[in-house]
Amino acid sequence: MAWGQGAVSIWVDLRERCPVAHTDRFHGAYLPTRYDDIASIAYDTENFSSRMVIVNEIPPAEIRGIAPPITSDPPEHTIARRILLPAFAPRKIEAWIPATRQICRELLDRIGDADSCDAAVDYAQHVPVKVIAKMLGVPEADGDQFRHWIHQLLEEGPGDPRIAAIAGKALRDYLSDHVARRREEPADDLLGFLLELRFAGEPLSDRHLVGTATLLLIAGIDTTWSSIGAALWHLANHDDDRRRLAAEPGLMTQAIEEFLRAYAPVTMARYVVNDTEIGGVTMKAGQRVLLPFPAGNRDPRAFDRADEVIIDRAENRHYAFGLGIHRCLGSNLARMEMQVALEEWMHRHPDFHVADADAVRWSVGQIRGPRTLPLTLGVRP
Ligand code: HEM
Repeated sequence: MAWGQGAVSIWVDLRERCPVAHTDRFHGAYLPTRYDDIASIAYDTENFSSRMVIVNEIPPAEIRGIAPPITSDPPEHTIARRILLPAFAPRKIEAWIPATRQICRELLDRIGDADSCDAAVDYAQHVPVKVIAKMLGVPEADGDQFRHWIHQLLEEGPGDPRIAAIAGKALRDYLSDHVARRREEPADDLLGFLLELRFAGEPLSDRHLVGTATLLLIAGIDTTWSSIGAALWHLANHDDDRRRLAAEPGLMTQAIEEFLRAYAPVTMARYVVNDTEIGGVTMKAGQRVLLPFPAGNRDPRAFDRADEVIIDRAENRHYAFGLGIHRCLGSNLARMEMQVALEEWMHRHPDFHVADADAVRWSVGQIRGPRTLPLTLGVRP
């Protein structure tokens, strides 16, 4: 069964039959599926390193982190993360609500009165790209190019290191050029913010600066696109939830947390530094381990009715945003984009359903979400 499409049933099967699975592919990789095992690894930064967060064919000897703080381990991680926090604080993100609303309205205007659209392609994919381009200070018009590089890095790259290397270099070169331009023309955007940062009194090295800019561009695009798309996919398939949300818009915040739990898009990876036992299996140094936060979020040991989507779930300590020192730095931004994108969509299209279930396509790789989502707009005939 294809991973993206069938991930939920694969996790259920593995969790019961083989809670810590292993493959010899990708130089050896483990896949734990229980909430507690995933959490133990995420908190254990001594035995599990973030120097590589994607499982791919790159030989272990060539692995080195180039996107701080996500690829940094302590002690370097602490400061590489701390210096970025002010830019993603709740107040800073609130200021972006009007621009995000404007972006969503323009996309919906483009769909206009059509009786069908592809909600992933025509809507969800554009929202995070346009927002982060504005925040960073790079042209929104380059959005298609960003998504192409990210597709090469995250979907094609794991199986073909050559493609990943070419896309990674193209993305870094692109951002190096924009950083150089920002040096000449200072501006109040994220690139300007990164240039002003000081690390022990010194500006960030070019490698650090461009690595972080690359991370900020990559981290929020496929992830948020996937989350908005998965929420729309759910609502298109569940008339009861959709009607309830249209009638009770105040439920949106709670519903978003439940969509994040049930359709968490991000599975990260770690590099095993020392032999370590997890869930009765000794993970061998030099191999990799996936952290399927979405699988943990559906573990019945951690959540009541874990496989049901309950849009007013009262207690919801999900870990869609990870846990431990690498917990998502952009969670305020991600939640804001989801809230605005879903509010605007529901306002314009309170009724919609999947036009052709067989035509829905999910991504491959570690970020999971619908990439083709054909919907019929309007009341079901
Ligand atoms: C729904 C959307 C998103 C989800 C589900 C998500 C999820 C995650 C997860 C699970 C991690 C932990 C990685 C690990 O443990 O190795 C993470 C880290 C991170 N995320 Fe997000 N993310 C989202 C959106 C964003 C956005 C919009 C940004 C902003 C640009 C962002 C920036 C980051 C950064 C910088 C880190 C690294 C933090 C660190 O290493 O200390 N994310 N994210």
